[in-house]
Amino acid sequence: MRQHVNPLSINFKEIERIPSLIEMFGDSKLNLHLDIGCAAGEFLSDLALANISWNYLGIEIREKLVKNARLRARKVEIENLYFVFGNAYNILNNNENKFIIKNIKSISFNFPDPWFKKRHYKRRIIQPEFINILSKTLQKGSLIFIKTDVKDLFDYMDCIISSNFNFKTLHEKDFNYSESFNPNKFKTKREEYVISNRLDIFERIYIKI
Ligand SMILES: C[S@@+](CC[C@H](N)C(=O)[O-])C[C@H]1O[C@@H](n2cnc3c(N)ncnc32)[C@H](O)[C@@H]1O
Repeated sequence: MRQHVNPLSINFKEIERIPSLIEMFGDSKLNLHLDIGCAAGEFLSDLALANISWNYLGIEIREKLVKNARLRARKVEIENLYFVFGNAYNILNNNENKFIIKNIKSISFNFPDPWFKKRHYKRRIIQPEFINILSKTLQKGSLIFIKTDVKDLFDYMDCIISSNFNFKTLHEKDFNYSESFNPNKFKTKREEYVISNRLDIFERIYIKI
């Protein structure tokens, strides 16, 4: 399977119809967490099974991984988990899909693709335009979690989010995990690899103010 796809490719301009929350989830009123670049969805499945009082939505640009994620969700028969295929920016920037951002309580960007070459930075998922859309539409108090093993990418993402006046860094000590979704309860696939190779992890939480 291809490791990287170019998110700016014309192939991702056309987006699939996103069902309503009622169609996606057993109980559409539950808090909603969005995982962007969820790969085959193992991390979200673990969370969804462990915490049935939240809904979990994953967006992934590699179609084969989304098919695998959907198969797994069907097998475990959980109603609080849903996967969408496509470029997350194109999906969430579409007016018909703004309802997703309006209903989100937290978003995770776990180990996004680093796109190391400078001319490819525009392919990175976190961009000022994207953060601007999120800042305008997310409810106050919504959280953004970022996590990566690439320091340069961390600095890049942190600079973009911190430059937006609608987001403030939330320090770990100020974050009450017991009241909220705990994204650190499970490790993502990439995180397991990073930990087993003793690489550094750079992470931060932001709150919409
Ligand atoms: C390095 S992998 C990390 C996967 C997973 N989050 C983890 O931590 O194991 C990054 C994932 O983001 C996906 N991705 C990259 N750009 C994307 C975009 N614009 N929209 C949706 N998914 C994207 C990639 O296909 C890939 O599966």
